[in-house]
Order: sequence, then C-alpha cells, then structure tokens
Amino acid sequence: MLADQFSKIFREEHRQIRDALLDLITAFSKRDRDQIQSLLGQVATLTGPHFRYEEETLYPALTEIFSPEYIESLLSDHDHAIGAAKKLVDLAGKGSLSEEEANHAVDLIRGVLPHVSDCDGLSIMVERFSEKKVQSILDARDRSNQAGLDLMQWASKVRKRAAAAVA
Ligand SMILES: [Fe+2]
Ligand SMILES: [Fe+2]
Repeated sequence: MLADQFSKIFREEHRQIRDALLDLITAFSKRDRDQIQSLLGQVATLTGPHFRYEEETLYPALTEIFSPEYIESLLSDHDHAIGAAKKLVDLAGKGSLSEEEANHAVDLIRGVLPHVSDCDGLSIMVERFSEKKVQSILDARDRSNQAGLDLMQWASKVRKRAAAAVA
C-alpha cells in the first residue's frame, strides 16, 4: 500500500527534524555558536522542502477529512515556525549570546516541537486517501526536494502566507 510507504518516509523526515531541533536546544543551552549555526542550516534544509510539499499537496488534500479551521491551524503552525526560525537566526548572528537570549531561543524551539509530532500523526488520515492522491503527494515531495529551497528561501520567494511575527 502506497500509504504505508508514505508514512515511513513521513516519519523519517519528522525524526530528522525532531533530532535537529533537540540538538539545537542543546547547542543553544551550551551557547555553542558553531553548533548553533550548523544546526540552524540543517533545520532550514530539512524543513524547507518538507513544509513546501505539505502546504502544496498534503494539507489541501486533508480538507476531505478535517475542518477548514484545523487545516488553517496547521498552516499557522508553519507561519509560527518560520517566524521562530527567523528569530533564531537573528539570535545566532549576535556576537555573543546572553543566558537570557539562549533561554529564549530554547523556548522558541520548544514551541515548534509539538507541530513535529502533531504533523506526523496526519499519516493515519493519509491511509484513507486513494492511491492516486497519495501518489500525487509523493510526486509533490519529489518536486519539492528537487527544487531544494531551504525554509527561508521558500518562505521569502515562493510561499504566499506571511510568517508570524516572533519577538
Ligand atoms: Fe510535517
Ligand atoms: Fe507541517
């Protein structure tokens, strides 16, 4: 079943995003600038194509199951995650990070984590899609990976929605 294949791929992507975010929490806690920079790059590379195919195909496809309000909440989780990522890049660019700023960064990352597990749960609904629909999501994923825009590139050049303002 194609949906099983999708669930495996989807789970693995969320695992990688989860691990990068948890490592980023550790890096900010230690105020390890090199690690912070490298992990922020990793998170942007992983989430750019992932968010993109979710928004272009998976989330719209889920309107056959969920209410428009719930789909909107998934999209606004992304708005918030992009805003938080921007703020984290700002913080990481500072010459030196105060303990307070490091704690703030950790809080921002923790704020994004629930979407990773919530999003992974969506694959239980994908099991109810037609093979054709699942294939169209996998195709969009391929296109998204080939385009390879990271989170910031995609959010600024392609995405129509605005990121949330995160202080
Ligand atoms: Fe996701
Ligand atoms: Fe998502």
